[in-house]
Amino acid sequence: MEDKQFTTYFLAVLGALAVLTIAILVLANSLTSEPDEMDRGIASAVIERTKPMADVYVGSVPAATKAPVAMKVASVELSGEEVYQQVCAACHNAGVMNAPKPGDKSAWDQRLAKGIEAVYANAIGGIGGMPAKGGRADLSDAAVKAAVDHLVK
Ligand code: HEC
Repeated sequence: MEDKQFTTYFLAVLGALAVLTIAILVLANSLTSEPDEMDRGIASAVIERTKPMADVYVGSVPAATKAPVAMKVASVELSGEEVYQQVCAACHNAGVMNAPKPGDKSAWDQRLAKGIEAVYANAIGGIGGMPAKGGRADLSDAAVKAAVDHLVK
């Protein structure tokens, strides 16, 4: 008799625990699924808005081409103006972080006072808020110089 009572009691507790487990699973699922969707939306929006601004590379690089090849093409074949438009304009057209704008004669006269070679060297090695070669280390020195020539003329 006592054994039977125990079994009944035991099964009742087991059943109650099983129901509780399922209830918790359902609850947890309903609590987490929706914010998860939202988080993903926010994450991609954050990635979109915090992209580095010098990352904008508008050259036509075939998707299958390996980056170093494309970069070599960019540094060998682009004219000063093309390099400027693709790499430097992002900062210099808008004067980002006081980057001297093209055609700003007084700003350029001041900088050119130390000699064009020093200006080339700063464009190649970086100065203040400006990264070396405008952030495109793959550019040849000659390409950067050509872009400087385009910028200061
Ligand atoms: C990330 C923004 C940015 C990019 C991209 C950029 N520059 Fe600059 N550049 C600056 C800033 C800011 C300065 C002013 C730095 C200072 O004097 O503190 C500057 C200054 C210069 C100067 C003046 C150097 C001197 O001796 O006074 C030259 C020349 C120049 N940039 C050329 C270029 C060329 C060429 C490119 C593209 C290959 C380029 N920049 C890309 C931000 C940028």
